[in-house]
Amino acid sequence: MNPDAKIIAAFQESPEAYLSLAKLESVTGVPRTSIASRLQLLTDHGYVFEQHPHHGYRLVEEPDRLTADAIQAVYSGGKVGSQILVFESTSSTSDVIARHASRARDGLVVFAETQTRGRGRQGRSWVSPRGKGLWFSILLRPTGGAAQAQQLTVSASVAVAHVLREEAKVDARIKWPNDIVCGSRKLAGILTEYRDTAAILGIGIDVNLNKDDFPAELQTTATSLLIETGRVHDRNRLAGRLLAALDQHYTTMARNFETVIDQWAGLSVTLGQQVKIRQGDQLREGLAQALDGQGRLILRKDNGQVEYLVGGEVTGG
Ligand code: BTN
Repeated sequence: MNPDAKIIAAFQESPEAYLSLAKLESVTGVPRTSIASRLQLLTDHGYVFEQHPHHGYRLVEEPDRLTADAIQAVYSGGKVGSQILVFESTSSTSDVIARHASRARDGLVVFAETQTRGRGRQGRSWVSPRGKGLWFSILLRPTGGAAQAQQLTVSASVAVAHVLREEAKVDARIKWPNDIVCGSRKLAGILTEYRDTAAILGIGIDVNLNKDDFPAELQTTATSLLIETGRVHDRNRLAGRLLAALDQHYTTMARNFETVIDQWAGLSVTLGQQVKIRQGDQLREGLAQALDGQGRLILRKDNGQVEYLVGGEVTGG
C-alpha cells in the first residue's frame, strides 16, 4: 500500500475520530513530517479534513472519484489487483488490458470513469456514463488456459453477486450465463475475452445511475444500486470489496470449483427453470438442470437429450 492509501485507510478505520500526526505516523508508518503535505495533496483531490487545534484531523468528506489509492485503502491487494490503474476515459477497459497483455503482470486491473466504446455480450454496446458506475477489466492467466474461461466467468459472477448483496443489501442474483439481476432487471454484466493465454475479465456494474442515465430502450430492463436502494454508494469502497472477493473466488476456483458451483446454484434464477435459450439463430428449449465441472449449463431437452451450453441468451422461462 502506498502512503496515501495508508492515510485514507487510517481515517476510514476510525470514521468519527480525530487523528493526531503522531497517531497517523504510528498507524501508517508514514513520517509525520510528510503527513501534513500529503493531507494537503489529498485535499487538492477533493478530500475534506476538519482540523482540531489539539486533537488533529478528522476526515469529513471523500470525493466521488475513483482512485487507486482509495481502492487500495479498502483492499491492499492479492493476485487480483497486483496493479490498479484508473483512467478518466478510455474506449474500453478491456482494450487497455489487451494492449498491456503481453507485458503486464497477472492481476492488473484497469478502471475507467467512462468508456466511449464499452462492449457487452453478443456484440452489444455497454453504456458507461462518467462517474456513475464501476467499469473495469482484469488480466488473468488461469493455469488451465482458455479451457477455464467458463469457470472464470462463473466464479466472477458469484463474487460480484455476493458483494452487491453484502455491501448494498440488494437481492442480487445470477441469470445464466452471467447477468447480475435484481428482480427482472439487469444490474451488472460480465464479459470474458481471451487473447493468447490471457483472459480479460470485463465487469460493468451500474452503481449510481439514475433512470435517465440509461438510454430509453434500457430504462425498463436495467437498474442500478442507486435505483434499488435510494442511496448513493461509495464506488471506491465497493471496488475494493469486489477485488477482494474476485481474488478469493479466483483462488477457490483453482482449488475447488465445486464450491463455486454450489454458490452459483444458490444465487441462480435460471436453475430448475424451463427455459428457451437463443444462440445466434438457434433456439433451444429445456430444463436448466445444473452447471457441469467446466461451468457449462446442462440443459435437459424435452426429448431427454442433454446439451452443454457456454453462452446464449435466456429468452423465456
Ligand atoms: C454484458 O453484456 O452483460 C457484459 C458487460 C460487460 C461490460 C464491462 S464494462 C468494463 C469492461 N469493458 C467493456 O468494454 N466491457 C466490460
